[in-house]
Amino acid sequence: MPTIQAPSLGLLLIAPLNSTLFLESQCLAQNFLGHYRSGETTSSLFRLETPGCVQFASNYLSKEPIALLATPSPEKRLVWIEHESVDASLLQYNHQGPTIDDVLDALGPTDPEEAQQTLSTSDSPVSPVLYRTDTEILVALPPEQAFTIDTLLPRFWKSTIVPESPSPYRGVSDENVERVRSVLHNLKFSPVVASVVNNISIPQIHNDIRFLTGEDGRSGIVSRHSFSTGAITAANWIKGRIEETGAECRLENFLSGFAPNVICRYASIMDTNDTIIISGHYDSRGSFGSVRAPGGDDDGSGTTGILSIARTIARKRIKFHTNFELVTFAGEEQGLLGSRAYSRQLRAQNASVVLMIQADMTAYRAPEEPLQLGLPERIGTPEVTALVGNVSALYSPELTVGYSAACCSDHQSFIEQGFPASQVFERAGPIADPMYHNSGDLSERVGYDVNQLYAIAKVQFATALHVAGFEFADPQ
Ligand SMILES: *[C@@H]1O[C@H](CO)[C@@H](O)[C@H](O)[C@H]1NC(C)=O
Ligand SMILES: *[C@@H]1O[C@H](CO)[C@@H](O)[C@H](O)[C@H]1NC(C)=O
Ligand SMILES: *[C@@H]1O[C@H](CO)[C@@H](O)[C@H](O)[C@H]1NC(C)=O
Ligand SMILES: *[C@@H]1O[C@H](CO)[C@@H](O)[C@H](O)[C@H]1NC(C)=O
Ligand SMILES: *[C@@H]1O[C@H](CO)[C@@H](O)[C@H](O)[C@H]1NC(C)=O
Ligand SMILES: [Zn+2]
Repeated sequence: MPTIQAPSLGLLLIAPLNSTLFLESQCLAQNFLGHYRSGETTSSLFRLETPGCVQFASNYLSKEPIALLATPSPEKRLVWIEHESVDASLLQYNHQGPTIDDVLDALGPTDPEEAQQTLSTSDSPVSPVLYRTDTEILVALPPEQAFTIDTLLPRFWKSTIVPESPSPYRGVSDENVERVRSVLHNLKFSPVVASVVNNISIPQIHNDIRFLTGEDGRSGIVSRHSFSTGAITAANWIKGRIEETGAECRLENFLSGFAPNVICRYASIMDTNDTIIISGHYDSRGSFGSVRAPGGDDDGSGTTGILSIARTIARKRIKFHTNFELVTFAGEEQGLLGSRAYSRQLRAQNASVVLMIQADMTAYRAPEEPLQLGLPERIGTPEVTALVGNVSALYSPELTVGYSAACCSDHQSFIEQGFPASQVFERAGPIADPMYHNSGDLSERVGYDVNQLYAIAKVQFATALHVAGFEFADPQ
């Protein structure tokens, strides 16, 4: 049952994802803190800043299963912790290390009575847990704990730092999605696009992924966790490789202590501000207590796909008819931090992002399953998802296309800012990679399928080529 714990302003509202909420209530639309996954559903989080907003939420409360919570003190950061959607086959693995209750206990008292008592004695810690169900937990933590809690969580639990301040919610408007709609409407196979995407080099993908995981012994990378030196090595290397292909790249810091986003741009040869972004995240996560986080699939696969596309742009000497960005984000594993920063920056600049496609985990294939492409069931602009699905049939017909509840990679940050976006993933259904968030996430192992990574990179690239329009610097 919903409860109002403190009837004052600055309340937090947790409500099931429902886009009519944003239309019905301006104050909610203006004070949005993001979408968060919870088991098989998605919740939206808001801060209620005005009496009218609290009134709206209280009325809504009588109809929908929502929670209203007092906001914690301003020195604390909110962290959403969720149990991820993983295949039942993964739950059989015996896990070492603490349970989620151990982690919460270590953060402070969770027993409500104990928390109540400590509330009256001024300096004692108060329970960090604000809200909890079987699959989702909202905690308020000092910043240093908030930014490192991902390293303490048991496998299959994922933390997301809630933004410090709310931002206006921008639905993806008809105008924003017009270009994608028109490409979807007129889509047909192009031999020229095929000749470009078929030029992606599989041997190069093998080389690149082994550098990023550290398997080739050249890079010295042990981990690409956002705080690791390996992440910095990776960022500089990715920047260097993409610069060699003719793009202008920059490392963009978004939060002190975190590795930067790598943002690379090929300027359009036309006079336009329209921009297309294709992306992955290069940061990684390992097993509890281990310093190793090779991130071969998550998300070395998406990152390598982006590199393979950059190398193809150079080999084919492609010139785009929109601005074309290749981006690899950091801070994804701490809750989409790099992409939230970049998408907010683009929104503040009134950028015209007409398409964004994130590749996150594209290489794992269970031996008994076909080559697949998973599209997002919930978080994705429907027209973009439909376009990617249709492009797949044209250029990578070997992929079986399906839908997945595995969700919430960096494309979500772009959707929240009103930019048309979607994701490519490795299978229909939940995550099944046994090395997911594990220090054994290498590229040389059973189930790591470079052919699937290649086929999905072709789809990501072909979709972007169709929407951008392009020509060759040299006659073909
Ligand atoms: C969304 O909210 C509206 C009222 O605000 C309600 O009528 C509708 O049933 C809700 N939709 C879902 C799917 O819960
Ligand atoms: C890609 O195209 C270039 C130039 O057209 C050619 O030299 C190269 O062999 C091609 N590579 C692949 C993998 O198709
Ligand atoms: C691009 O944006 C700039 C700054 O907002 C504007 O002055 C210019 O006219 C735009 N160009 C096009 C082709 O829309
Ligand atoms: C973006 O657009 C808004 C509304 O049209 C305007 O107020 C603002 O100055 C613009 N910002 C930039 C950076 O162009
Ligand atoms: C192809 O596009 C149509 C809309 O034009 C859509 O209904 C369909 O689901 C798409 N196919 C795939 C596999 O996504
Ligand atoms: Zn990932």
